[in-house]
Amino acid sequence: MKKTTILAMAVGLFVSAMSFTSCDKNNDNTMTVKPTLYDSLGGTTMVADPRNSGVMIEKGRLGIRSVVDSTIFVIAADSKLNSYFQPLLAEVTAGNTSGLTALSKSLTDFFCVATGAKNFTYGGKNMVAAHDPAQNPRMNGKSDNAAFDQFIADLVVGANQNKLPANLINSVGALVNTLRSQVVQR
Ligand code: HEM
Repeated sequence: MKKTTILAMAVGLFVSAMSFTSCDKNNDNTMTVKPTLYDSLGGTTMVADPRNSGVMIEKGRLGIRSVVDSTIFVIAADSKLNSYFQPLLAEVTAGNTSGLTALSKSLTDFFCVATGAKNFTYGGKNMVAAHDPAQNPRMNGKSDNAAFDQFIADLVVGANQNKLPANLINSVGALVNTLRSQVVQR
């Protein structure tokens, strides 16, 4: 098999795993589109954004943003993980929250797209580059498996703080785990 075909198949597999979406062929040859994880998280239903008065936001995005922001605070307080975020934490300590705001948006965009949202794009680094200190000086050292496990544990704490149901936490955990080999680099 040609290298390009293998690459195309790998990309295809990755993309479908990332969005957790799938189609089932019915007996009468029609297709049923199963809801994505993003749909389960609230999907495109518009709700008031509690953070921006008068602004509406997709319920799925609001849920993801809430979990992301809670998780960032859990990580910041976690001595097993916060040293990796040293540049960010130094900025925040000095009163500069621009990097924090950018990370919150970037992670929110990433998880929206990864769970199957259609109305957002992720414009940040790919997961290998984002977690390679040589390509991202904001990553203070390479992650090992223990740090990755701790990241998932902190994500679960952040999700529980937002009362995400256990089945959705499991789905998000499974999704995150598909990225382990890209993030863990030592
Ligand atoms: C599957 C799990 C993970 C996902 C989906 C993820 C996702 C991301 C994303 C989207 C960014 C922003 C990249 C950009 O804007 O260009 C980022 C940055 C970063 N990630 Fe991760 N990450 C994961 C695991 C980890 C782990 C385990 C660590 C630490 C051991 C880590 C440490 C960082 C750091 C330090 C940054 C830079 C933060 C800053 O902007 O100051 N990440 N990550």
